[in-house]
Amino acid sequence: MENVNKSILITGATGYIATHTIVELVNRGYEIVGIDNLVNSSKKVLDKTKEITGESIKFFESDLRERDNLRDLFEKFDFKAVIHFAGYKAVGESVLDPLLYYSNNLSGTITLLDVMKEYAVKSIVFSSSCTVYGSPDKVPVDEGNVISPQNPYGRTKAYIDQILEDISNSDPDWSIISLRYFNPIGAHESGLIGEDPNGIPNNLVPFITQTAVGKLEKLSVFGNDYPTKDGTCIRDYIHVVDLAIAHLKALEHLEKNSCEFINLGTGKGYSVLEVIRTFEKVNNVKIPFEISPRREGDAVEVFAKPDKADKLLDWKAKRSLEKMLKDAWNFQQKNPNGYK
Ligand code: UD1
Repeated sequence: MENVNKSILITGATGYIATHTIVELVNRGYEIVGIDNLVNSSKKVLDKTKEITGESIKFFESDLRERDNLRDLFEKFDFKAVIHFAGYKAVGESVLDPLLYYSNNLSGTITLLDVMKEYAVKSIVFSSSCTVYGSPDKVPVDEGNVISPQNPYGRTKAYIDQILEDISNSDPDWSIISLRYFNPIGAHESGLIGEDPNGIPNNLVPFITQTAVGKLEKLSVFGNDYPTKDGTCIRDYIHVVDLAIAHLKALEHLEKNSCEFINLGTGKGYSVLEVIRTFEKVNNVKIPFEISPRREGDAVEVFAKPDKADKLLDWKAKRSLEKMLKDAWNFQQKNPNGYK
């Protein structure tokens, strides 16, 4: 057994938020073991994290539902904790194929938790989402808000949060932190890693950067008749590096007999038009766009009350919207075709 007392297992290791977290953890001296089924990502990204940190991580290609593969890993390494990122995240796809989402996100997590229990590794940081709050009836959104996800993807996050709470109630040895992300955007300052969605992006900022680079013709702004300052929806965008640092903090604040749900946002809301204007201004590029009908299921206004993260983790988001959009553009320019 490789007995490295700072060994951390990262699931979904080649994904967007995981790779940024790996950089922060490796820089902090953690030994990382990554696992990913590579369905939505590429192993090549690990060459980039190595370029940034000067260290490589151990990587295993497997789906979390392959219990024997997971058991092999837990036999081989003495994990201190797990950061669980693996999961599908496209809302529209989850509506069309809910079983795909329930099987991958729920069965994958249950298998992971079961193997963790078997090997008495009972410390986990989970990648949850503000999507569990659905369309909140008041902003800013704190962790006590009603849980009311609006689609199968969101429900997988809410069910997993509930499973974690039940496990914690059943056994005081578990240390659990579930981080509810608002809207992660941006990229590592180096421009080596960033967001590389498959196909046409669903989310606003990758759509903007791909329009700016000329891969997409124009952006559709989904609705300008919402009851907001300029009629477009408001979100709490957070720099992916701030988010990555929060995972490091969470890891260092894991406590036995505790299961905490923590919002990760900046506490500030920006409209779609403000994001477009700010992107144009800081990067000096024009984004062709048109106003289109509303997108079904969009909440009008969502932004976090991030006080709990400050109190429990001693963490605050530091990077501005300007910085997020500069870094997103830097990554897109350096990688016009993503990691391909
Ligand atoms: C979406 C998901 C959310 C998920 C998150 C992951 C929905 C309803 N919600 O959040 O569950 O956790 O992604 O990051 O899909 N917009 C445009 N044009 C576009 C794309 C987006 O105007 O081409 C607008 C949207 O209407 C929204 C804002 O930009 O007002 C942000 O959209 P997006 O980046 O997709 O994030 P969310 O909808 O907040």
